[in-house]
Amino acid sequence: MLSKLFGRKKEEKVLNYGPRNPDGYGDWSFVGTDMHSHLVPGIDDGAQTVEDSISLIQQLQGMGFKSLITTPHIKSDHYPNTHATIQSGLQELRAALHQRGINMPIKAAAEYYIDDYFMQLLDAEPLLTITENKVLVEISFLFEPVRFYDTLFKIQTAGYKPIIAHPERYAFYHNNINAYKELKDRGCHLQLNTISLSGYYGRAVKEVAERILSMGLYDYCGTDMHHVKHADSMQKLLQSGVMPVLQQYPFLNSRLQLV
Ligand SMILES: [Fe+2]
Repeated sequence: MLSKLFGRKKEEKVLNYGPRNPDGYGDWSFVGTDMHSHLVPGIDDGAQTVEDSISLIQQLQGMGFKSLITTPHIKSDHYPNTHATIQSGLQELRAALHQRGINMPIKAAAEYYIDDYFMQLLDAEPLLTITENKVLVEISFLFEPVRFYDTLFKIQTAGYKPIIAHPERYAFYHNNINAYKELKDRGCHLQLNTISLSGYYGRAVKEVAERILSMGLYDYCGTDMHHVKHADSMQKLLQSGVMPVLQQYPFLNSRLQLV
């Protein structure tokens, strides 16, 4: 039944939520590796200090996550991060974890914002990947990038496979659910922000996330953890009737290796 629900048939089905469970539906350990977060201190709009980072990582560990691929923004106007800023921040964070005796494997990739600057980077240097050739990308929340499909093709021609971050948050696709199928057909992976299902970003985002989930179009899930409010939402979501659905869903996160 679940295989039918999750992807063999791509037509839409209503998600069958179970009841809310005040005792919680276990933890997030079924995900294994979280592959979208902002935990390198002070280089984007996520954790600002090492102490912020440590606190968020301890909360993720407490919720069952086994390893982390953290993804600082690379966005030319706001967060002009480079391999160097990300790697040095990661080393600082790893040292702080080690000092405190916290055993949480962590590596860094990036969340690339698709714009002209990104296209320059694509030509100029190797991209930071989640695993193998898979690169996490986001787009504007306001409009689809001009010639977006051409851009996706260029990314693929350069040897990468795009993972589209939080597709449910792009409001311009909300009335065009086929756009998500189209992205998949064009060789993209889709990554759910799990807290979209809690209503954190509003009802419309929640409903679209449920639709994409019921269509079996997601490949990965991520916390997109920036700060403690996101951690609280992840914690609360454990009581939601959507958890048994997520726990059965064939997310690819558990295949991610931190090498
Ligand atoms: Fe993000």
